[in-house]
Amino acid sequence: MKENIVLIGFMGTGKTTVGKLISEKLGRDFVDSDDYIESRYNMKIKNIFDIHGEEYFRDLERKAIAHLSKKSKLVIATGGGIVLDKTNIDKLREKGTIYLLNGSIDTIKRNLVNSRSNRPLLIQYDWIDKIKSLLSSRKELYFNSADHIINIDNKIPYEISEDIIRLSTI
Ligand code: S3P
Repeated sequence: MKENIVLIGFMGTGKTTVGKLISEKLGRDFVDSDDYIESRYNMKIKNIFDIHGEEYFRDLERKAIAHLSKKSKLVIATGGGIVLDKTNIDKLREKGTIYLLNGSIDTIKRNLVNSRSNRPLLIQYDWIDKIKSLLSSRKELYFNSADHIINIDNKIPYEISEDIIRLSTI
């Protein structure tokens, strides 16, 4: 078994919730790359986007991933955009197995309806169109980056975490 369990996927697929459940069950440390960036730079993700722009955020994200991917025995939940740069995936794979949380637009919409204000890419009025366009431009990247694809539709986070634990201990 490779050492780190890495969760990737679109915003609202439950990476953080599922990651915490896995870490509790396996007794491993959990880290969320967005939380790491916020505490390392002492700024909210939303403010980083507002003040410095997306490219600057992607640069901090690359540095965060480079740092976290060197660690061992972690469960890592990543930001939904890390697949935009293949070097992030290459680094994470060196010591980790990558699980894609994959769900329908309906599932994603339902999960984001109350939390999209924390997501700078989805604050616009036509946020559902934005989800569709981001998903269609990223879909291939998500699938190409994954070692395992985990269906999240009609499942509670506990079930998703069990699916991943089962695969990770084979
Ligand atoms: C982003 C996803 C967010 C966060 C940032 C950008 C994206 O993380 O990194 O708002 O580009 O998909 P979550 O996937 O945890 O919401």
